[in-house]
Amino acid sequence: MFLPAASLLNTTFRQLRRKVICGPVFVTRSKSSQPHEQRTELTKSPVCSYNEWDCLEEVIVGRVENATVPELTPEIQAVIPETSWDYFRENAGKFFPTEHMRKARSEIAEFCRILEHEGITVRRPDIIDHAKSFSTPDFTSTGLYAAMPRDLLLVIGDEIIESPMAWRCRFFEYRAYRSLMKEYFRDGAKWTTAPKPLMSNELYDMDYIKSGKRLELPARGRYVTTEFEPCFDAADFQRAGRDIFCQLSHTTNRMGIDWLQRQIGDEYTIHIVQCKDDAPMHIDASLCLLKPGLVLVNPDRPCYQIDVFKKAGWDVVEAPRPTTPSDHTMWFSSTWLSMNVLMLDHNRVVVDVNEIPTQKLFEKLGLECIKVDFRFASSLGGGSHCWTCDVRRNGSLESYF
Ligand code: NVA
Repeated sequence: MFLPAASLLNTTFRQLRRKVICGPVFVTRSKSSQPHEQRTELTKSPVCSYNEWDCLEEVIVGRVENATVPELTPEIQAVIPETSWDYFRENAGKFFPTEHMRKARSEIAEFCRILEHEGITVRRPDIIDHAKSFSTPDFTSTGLYAAMPRDLLLVIGDEIIESPMAWRCRFFEYRAYRSLMKEYFRDGAKWTTAPKPLMSNELYDMDYIKSGKRLELPARGRYVTTEFEPCFDAADFQRAGRDIFCQLSHTTNRMGIDWLQRQIGDEYTIHIVQCKDDAPMHIDASLCLLKPGLVLVNPDRPCYQIDVFKKAGWDVVEAPRPTTPSDHTMWFSSTWLSMNVLMLDHNRVVVDVNEIPTQKLFEKLGLECIKVDFRFASSLGGGSHCWTCDVRRNGSLESYF
């Protein structure tokens, strides 16, 4: 399905409809403590990003610390590789293996240094105890990690949105980012928390796994999450200025997409696109918008609406197959993290140092590869796109379709 497609088909990304300068985003902020004396001042928002490619100025990079193995609940079982199931059953509530995590932590520290060397301000979430058990009136769980800010935080213009993520173990993940959120808010950002899902049993199709068809049902539009309440993970969205592309998945339902569309308003149009994916969760290893006119696609997961890009004049490029060995531990994802890349601007792309075919493709496309080792960090389910949230890019709100 592809929503409001008609307008897209008649234009190309070169025919920009409107151009709104972002640069500094000015918002009004009350300065006075006197209730009757409402003075305001112009403030530049520290949060401003409209797409996946404008020049990156500030980024949040996730953390390995205290990453905890979650319980094998239905919403997790629906998406993670079957090879991980026993590990989750046996280790729920414990930390991931120390030595593996030490290597992952050192890779991420190096990633941060490289980003800083490229002139980007790097921010980190707080270290919190993800192994602590918690209860709401509806469920009990332990936490997961604060490794993948891309899943939680969605930046649209000067607004930073805490997403209503679908996994119970991620219910309190926002706590690791609250110091940053408060700082951004104080400095002028628009800070929004989407309605927190109850995550009671009604949000999950409890028969989904029992059906024995978990990998067949997405093709029929059935997912482990129901439409009981809005839910989405930010990583199911790719931003291209006024047009935002997303997928329905095990973590993102229609009600979640509707909530987001209403929240961000008429300036933006969210388009649902679907890829042939037997365990859809997070669009950024299936379809990645690299820069205006260039989209990277997963050859194993063709996108049913790819003509929308082609008709708008975009080049559609297939990602080379990943080189990560099949026996490499991937607790949460496939090895297609090779295409899960962070653009630093139109010309620079962060790519896994081990993924030579992907680097060669990017070089052929005229992109400069910033190589980073993600071998151990990727085990937690993300490449450079997942491990980050681009807080501020130097660009403007534009139309590319
Ligand atoms: N769930 C997808 C995307 C991960 C970023 C995968 O495993 O490839």
